[in-house]
Amino acid sequence: GTITNVTGKQKVASQIAAMVKDGDVLGVGSGSTVYLALLAIAERIRTEKLNILAIPTSLEISMFCAKLGIPLTSTFEHTPGWLFDGADEVDPNNWLIKGRGGAMFKEKLLISSSAVNYIIVDESKMVQKINTNFPVPVEVFPQALLHVSAELRKIGANDASIRPAKGKDGPVITENNNMVLDCYFDNVSDSLERDIKSITGVIESGLFIGYDLNILVAANE
Ligand code: A5P
Repeated sequence: GTITNVTGKQKVASQIAAMVKDGDVLGVGSGSTVYLALLAIAERIRTEKLNILAIPTSLEISMFCAKLGIPLTSTFEHTPGWLFDGADEVDPNNWLIKGRGGAMFKEKLLISSSAVNYIIVDESKMVQKINTNFPVPVEVFPQALLHVSAELRKIGANDASIRPAKGKDGPVITENNNMVLDCYFDNVSDSLERDIKSITGVIESGLFIGYDLNILVAANE
């Protein structure tokens, strides 16, 4: 992702890095703010010889950790002790939209299993109402696309578009070999996340409603 407001984000990234303790198993989300935090964590690992393990949420974050010398583990072996991740939109109830990177399944798996979660965003992500300007991404098993699209419309989706790939023809294919429908709903109610998930063929959505989250906001400077 594009790095904007680096100074504000840098401060929040340093705050995250300062919380890391020897022996931690960290869940690591995706996005540019996460990148900045990882840079600062790698520096602490190098200078303080910390032993930590990272559970990544995406291929790009796995590769970035490998490049920085941050040891990786997976959800087969560990549950994260705590986690940090970005978000695409945050409302006054701390409801989130995530998944611009298409990694919302793994992001939600980690946020759900981690005891403590930090969401790091800049002010531009804070909105009065989520899903006004940013779609709710829904990961769909490809052969269920027609069924899922029809069911999403029944629960209030007025637009559900297959996310196109960049740099190749055809749709985005997620790390789980699925497709993404980017959706706008007439209304985001507190049952919408559950209603989307209950459709057969939906793997996960990027809607996060009612999670226990600590939101760290980087001021635009
Ligand atoms: C990835 O799938 C998203 O959920 C990210 O957390 C989000 O796009 C944040 O990215 P930035 O930190 O670059 O804004």
